[in-house]
Amino acid sequence: MTSTADTNATEHGSEIYPPSPEFAAAANAGPELQAAADADRLAFWDTQAKRLDWATPWTQVLDWSDAPVAKWFVGGSLNVAYNCVDRHVEAGNGDRVAIHFEGEPGDSRALTYNDLLTEVSKAANAFTDLGLVAGDRVAIYMPMIPEAIVTMLACARLGLTHSVVFAGFSATALRSRIDDAAAKLVVTVDGQWRRGQAAPLKPAVDEAVDGAESVEHVLVVQRTGIDVDTVAGRDLWWHETVEKASDQHTAQPFDAEHPLFILYTSGTTGKPKGIIHTSGGYLTQASYTHHNVFDHKAGKDVYWCTADIGWVTGHSYIVYGPLSNGVTQVVYEGTPNSPTEHRHFEIIEKYGVSIYYTAPTLVRTFMKWGREIPDAHDLSSIRLLGSVGEPINPEAWRWFRDVIGGGTAPIVDTWWQTETGAIMISPLPGITATKPGSAMAPLPGISAKIVDDEARPLGAGGNGYLVLDEPWPSMLRGIWGDMDRYKDTYWSRYAEEGWYFAGDGAKYDEDGALWVLGRVDDVMNVSGHRISTSEVESALVGHHSVAEAAVVGAADETTGQGIVAFVILREGAENTGETLIAELRAQVSTEISPIAKPRQITVVPELPKTRSGKIMRRLLRDIAEGRDLGDTSTLVDPKVFDAIRGK
Ligand code: WT7
Repeated sequence: MTSTADTNATEHGSEIYPPSPEFAAAANAGPELQAAADADRLAFWDTQAKRLDWATPWTQVLDWSDAPVAKWFVGGSLNVAYNCVDRHVEAGNGDRVAIHFEGEPGDSRALTYNDLLTEVSKAANAFTDLGLVAGDRVAIYMPMIPEAIVTMLACARLGLTHSVVFAGFSATALRSRIDDAAAKLVVTVDGQWRRGQAAPLKPAVDEAVDGAESVEHVLVVQRTGIDVDTVAGRDLWWHETVEKASDQHTAQPFDAEHPLFILYTSGTTGKPKGIIHTSGGYLTQASYTHHNVFDHKAGKDVYWCTADIGWVTGHSYIVYGPLSNGVTQVVYEGTPNSPTEHRHFEIIEKYGVSIYYTAPTLVRTFMKWGREIPDAHDLSSIRLLGSVGEPINPEAWRWFRDVIGGGTAPIVDTWWQTETGAIMISPLPGITATKPGSAMAPLPGISAKIVDDEARPLGAGGNGYLVLDEPWPSMLRGIWGDMDRYKDTYWSRYAEEGWYFAGDGAKYDEDGALWVLGRVDDVMNVSGHRISTSEVESALVGHHSVAEAAVVGAADETTGQGIVAFVILREGAENTGETLIAELRAQVSTEISPIAKPRQITVVPELPKTRSGKIMRRLLRDIAEGRDLGDTSTLVDPKVFDAIRGK
């Protein structure tokens, strides 16, 4: 496949990539999965839960009597960390590498499952010595280093509920999360490596915990060796406590519904929501999906999920899913262009990465940098690619498969959310014939519908709201400290039907493939027509000159909303001014409809992104509507506005 603009004529259409017979023959997932789920959904999950080692078996698969708060595997007990570490050692795989750590400055370190057991046991003993007991909350504010994963697993081992706060968040954000969960311990580092510099992190913790009543201790990993202030009696060094603790620790089982973690995610308004996940159902679905969606083969594959543990993808697809399956994985500390734009490809080459799971925004960044960069490396070890976080535009999908996946690797476009805990909608490699840009279908065991405002299910061609109409094992169990908000946010829209409202728009195409169109709050209404920002962006990126696009709906006196687009050009693409803009408008017109033509298209050098890589559409809307900018504190680089405004 070559990636030219003309191939986009088949957008949302007939361009289909069936699995190769070789891949299908060796795939973990077979057609029996769907058949079993269709025959008896709860019996299907009962079988999947047996992937794990339980201390006590459950007596009931699902108790939905207290809906919308589910209980899965009622009466069962297990230890999540035991399932991720000990059992692999007991099965004779202690010498297998669990983590190939690649530090940003070039240091590297391999941890086997034996090593992981030693480290997690020491941390568990040290946390116990600090007086922590099951049910207490621990805040984790760390970069991507092995100690972060060890800390999460030590919490799981002790029944401590962790709350990981992305290390790119501010002290204020950290403080509100510490307070909300009343965390007793904060685990952090002196500093983190970013683009060759040691960036201090401990000062943000000092600021955050100053006056925070719940915090008893701050435990600090020495990552960079920079000077930090220490508060006597409160602060402890990892190397003076954890590393000196006993490496013998026996894990105790906890109830299947014991809270494993809280993870904060932003809502449409107001303060972040502390999404609660529990143990047995969560681990069951994380493990099941990692095994089948990524076709993971323990002892053979080298897996790399490029997410950060600060997000749910890091929780479910770096820590819990992969480790429960005995993975060998790469954990990389830094940014993709440090020291050069070759970094990810060097890492893939060095470790022979076979499964690579990343976000569309990074794929588009690679496109912008140019294919000669990946082409300079041997990427032949890659056999499967994954995408998550936003709809992947067909152009990026094709490029990903062609350039990174050697033209053959299946792509799993995985739709899920912090709230769903694990993948819900995705192709199954070896089974599903994929379409560029479509997440295809709910996984076996998962039930989803696309419905209209009146809860009428939509069929082919129907464009509406994505709902989950049956409970699933890794579903959130609530919002920490605010069960009313939980019910209101997710369950009130279709209260009568008892469906979970995902907040995403979606549609089925003529072949029944499911397309997630983006957040409903990012869907524009132009002259009464609903148009997805991501659809327009996808069309724009389909133009050979465009690397990335962001589209917002700006208030318009005549049409309700008007479409305003910001685009970044590809490396080497010529900005032909009016000619280019006319081409782009024509592109959108032919790809979607004349009504989707942007009112205004501006070529800009950068787009404002959050540290997690999401485009800040709200801020672009402010620019498009000529308002003063609101809070820009979560942006990577607030200065991008000067560049955009200068246009
Ligand atoms: C929202 C959830 C899931 C982990 C990372 C993001 C969007 C996510 C896809 C996909 C289209 C996607 C949705 C969803 N999203 N994956 N494959 N295709 N959209 O987690 O921050 O909780 O965001 O991300 O809009 O609702 P999150």
